[in-house]
Amino acid sequence: MCGIVGYTGTRQAYPIILKGLKRLEYRGYDSSGVALLNDGKLNVYKKKGKVAELEEAMIGKNTDAHIGIGHTRWATHGEPSDRNAHPHLSANGKLSMIHNGIIENYALIKQDLVNKGYHFTSDTDTEVLLNFIEDIQKNNDDCKLEEALRIALKRVSGAYCILLIEQDNPDTIIAARKGSPLVIGIGKGEHFLASDASPIIEYTKEVVYVNDYELAIVKPDELILKNLGNEKITPYITKLDMELAAIEKGGYDHFMIKEIFEQPNTIFDCLRGRLYAKEGNIKMSGVDDNIDQLLNAQRIMIVACGTSWHAGLVAEYIIEELCRIPVEVEYASEFRYRNPIVNKGDVIIAISQSGETADTLVALEKAKENGAFIFGVVNAVGSSIARISNAGAYTHAGPEIGVASTKAFTGQLAVLMMVALDIAKHKGTITTERYLKLLLELEQVPEKVNSILKNAADIKSIAEKYKDASDFLFLGRGYNFPIALEGALKLKEISYIHAEGYPAAEMKHGPIALVDENLPVVFIATHDPYHEKIMSNMQEIKARKGKVISIITEGDLFSKSLSNDYFEIPMADELIAPLLTVVPLQLLSYYVGTAKGIDVDKPRNLAKSVTVE
Ligand code: G6P
Repeated sequence: MCGIVGYTGTRQAYPIILKGLKRLEYRGYDSSGVALLNDGKLNVYKKKGKVAELEEAMIGKNTDAHIGIGHTRWATHGEPSDRNAHPHLSANGKLSMIHNGIIENYALIKQDLVNKGYHFTSDTDTEVLLNFIEDIQKNNDDCKLEEALRIALKRVSGAYCILLIEQDNPDTIIAARKGSPLVIGIGKGEHFLASDASPIIEYTKEVVYVNDYELAIVKPDELILKNLGNEKITPYITKLDMELAAIEKGGYDHFMIKEIFEQPNTIFDCLRGRLYAKEGNIKMSGVDDNIDQLLNAQRIMIVACGTSWHAGLVAEYIIEELCRIPVEVEYASEFRYRNPIVNKGDVIIAISQSGETADTLVALEKAKENGAFIFGVVNAVGSSIARISNAGAYTHAGPEIGVASTKAFTGQLAVLMMVALDIAKHKGTITTERYLKLLLELEQVPEKVNSILKNAADIKSIAEKYKDASDFLFLGRGYNFPIALEGALKLKEISYIHAEGYPAAEMKHGPIALVDENLPVVFIATHDPYHEKIMSNMQEIKARKGKVISIITEGDLFSKSLSNDYFEIPMADELIAPLLTVVPLQLLSYYVGTAKGIDVDKPRNLAKSVTVE
């Protein structure tokens, strides 16, 4: 994680960097800082806390500079503090660097530098890399910075995106990437560098996505891209397909609630051009162009983290049901280390909002080396996971900025549903009648989500009633079991209330011991083949005086009678239901979090894009 911004050109660098850091705060927000090159000297300013605190601390400082770099941090090595904040200055004060990633062998390098007499002012791996670069320059006849960086990068292991500026080279930023993202915006006589396009979008739409093991030498009028072997690479310029409004709050109090309310549109955008319900067809080029590969798969593995992993669990049930292909869902962090069996031709579906999650990315790289076919379900266009995939489908949810994933999740579910339907049709494992029914139901989802959102105030009342609970239990069965997990994850992420998700029947094997009159238990109990079973589970909670909050299908009188509080959603097929049932749970966590005064867009210790292990 961590967000990085750089600017070199004719404008004032500081306001551009500051605004960019605010946009990148979703990547980390425990401290921030800037380095500006003014009056021939590198000046570094850093502050513990959110970017607003840096802004405050900068009042009255000389910010007159046309080149600078800035960083917002999510701590890995060293606690959040002013001294561990980036940018760092090298020992001779001539270099300044920001870094997103982890240098894994930093301890050995540090020891070596300490033996040579270097002193460190922070606990970070970044300062070690920076002084290592300074030392290489010194030992190589004061070689050019890019040369020293190249030598250093060949000796370090880990992940990085770094930006470096040098006192004696006052218009140049040197950048390099491996494993952490970097985008360079191309302006007229100026360049912008950032972890994603959001700090760049209002200045230019022409960008270059830097690849792993590439190094960029960036001046106002020139962008040179090289590999670590010092060979020039022609930059591939992409046009951004994103508007500024998409990354602003647009009148909402938080990005999270804006993103929850965007879902009717984002799901619609995801289905558009792919789902033709009336013609009875799905067109997904990622599936259709690779259909033999997908049909011949002996099994499908789904690899993801966090909320995206929950989308994978729903997809497992749907794909097995519709396509009759065995599916396994893996946490990327486990998959990458546990020596899994991956054979040539195996299909891996990678699910990721950011497309940059380090564990997912490395897991895919390994699977690809073994000959697996990677199908990416990704939100961030042009991201690393999108690029490493052999084929895929974007979720088209637009930039998601609130740390808790909402619209990206429903986008993932919509894409995965279409993928499953498309494969099932090609494979002949679904009847025409069922296929057409699911297509029609899928088409109705945006409208149904809209009708749920119209009643958001009812969820707000429920949230206010239970906001002081210390624990919550979320229970669901079948397709709604992963939604119980997602509801619990959302609540703990942004309200700091302990919450657990469980398959409703499994509750008897442990969590039932927690039930008393203080425990709210959220049931996802819409109409499906297990409805009667889940009613029994509700009775079991009620008998122990737990507070039953239920998400039910409209008009379900019996469920209402068993519930202390309920929220009704429109009737839907059980395969489609997760796209609807998750919405009230997103709202519940949002309203509990805000009622408790938590900054739900930036909850403590979390980051939106986890580009470290
Ligand atoms: C972080 C985010 C989650 C997200 C997870 C996986 O933990 O806070 O919202 O689900 O990473 O991220 P990805 O971008 O790969 O979906």
